[in-house]
Amino acid sequence: MILELQSPLDMHLHVRDAQMLRLVAPLSADSFAGAVIMPNLVPPVTSVDSVEAYRSRIMQAVGDNEHFKPYMTAFFKNYTESELLALKDHVFGLKLYPAGATTNSEGGVKGMDEAESTIRLMEEMGIPLLVHGESHGFVMDREEEFLSVYRHLAQKYPKLTISMEHITTASAVGLLDEFENLVATVTLQHLFITLDDVAGGMLKPHLFCKPIAKRPEDREALLEAALKAHPKLMFGSDSAPHPIHAKESCGCAAGVFTAPLALPKLAELFAKHDCIANLQAFVSDNACKIYGLTPPKTSVKLEDKPMSIPSSYEGFGQKVIPMDAGETISWSII
Ligand code: DOR
Ligand code: ZN
Repeated sequence: MILELQSPLDMHLHVRDAQMLRLVAPLSADSFAGAVIMPNLVPPVTSVDSVEAYRSRIMQAVGDNEHFKPYMTAFFKNYTESELLALKDHVFGLKLYPAGATTNSEGGVKGMDEAESTIRLMEEMGIPLLVHGESHGFVMDREEEFLSVYRHLAQKYPKLTISMEHITTASAVGLLDEFENLVATVTLQHLFITLDDVAGGMLKPHLFCKPIAKRPEDREALLEAALKAHPKLMFGSDSAPHPIHAKESCGCAAGVFTAPLALPKLAELFAKHDCIANLQAFVSDNACKIYGLTPPKTSVKLEDKPMSIPSSYEGFGQKVIPMDAGETISWSII
C-alpha cells in the first residue's frame, strides 16, 4: 500500500544550533514541509534579530531548500508593546516555559501573574501562545496540575489561541473540548509509550523526556484522539536531539529524537488501527485550519515496506540516538 501525504508539518520541533543543527535540520526537511521551531537555545531566542539570524542558520542547514519552512517562535518573556509589535511579523508564536521546567528554560516564567500583561498584548495582536504546561509538583502530576492555568488563560483571553504543547494526559485531551481557543500538539513517543517503557524495566534514557510519559489510560486517550484526527490536535514531534554523552550519562537530558522516523512510525500506527485516512489531517490539515497556514506544497510517499531505524545518526562531529534505534518498522518513506 502507498500513502501520499501532502505538506506534512511538525508543529513542535527542536533543531538546536551549530553542528547539531547541521546534522538534524536536513532530516526534518526530508520528511516535513515545515516545522514550528522551538526557541530554547542558549541564550534563548527573544528578539527580531535573533529570530531572523536563527531562521537563516536553519535555512542554510537545510541547503536553502524552499520546500521546508521554519515557523519561528520567540521565547516568552515580558515584552513591551513595541517589542511585541516588532516581533509579531517575524514569529509564528511565543513559547512559554515555566522557569526550570525543562532543557534551557531557566529564563522562563517564574509566576503566571507576571506573564499576563504580555499575554493580553498577544491576544490583542493575534499572536498564538504555545505553552510547556507543567507545574513544579510531583513529576507524574505536573501536567494535571497545570491544567488550571490553561483553564484560567482560556477563559480570561478568549481571542488568544493557546496551544497545550506535547500533551501527555487524558485530562488534557478532555480540556480540548471545553474551550474553543485551546488546541494541542502530541508527540510521537507519547502515542507509543508509558512510564513503564521508560523506567519499568532497565532505564531507557533515549525515551526520557519532559513531560514524562504517563499511564496506559493516558496513552490510550492520546492515541484515540490522534487516530480520529481530533480537529484541535496536531502532530508536534518535540523531536529533541541531545548528543549521546548527554543522554547516556548519570544526569540524563530530557528529549527523544524522532524526526527522521516520525512519519513512517505514524503511518505504521495509523495503518495498524485502520485509520490511515486520518493521518493527513493529523500531520497537516488540522494545523493549516487552526492557524491558517499555507506551507510549501510538498508530498511524501510512504509504503508498507520495512525500514530499519539506524542505531545512530552521526555527522558534523555529533552523534544522536533515535527512538527505536536498530529496530525495524513496517512502513518507510519511498
Ligand atoms: O524532553 C524535552 N526536551 N522536553 C522539552 O520540553 C524540551 C526538550 C529539549 O529541548 O530538550
Ligand atoms: Zn519541546
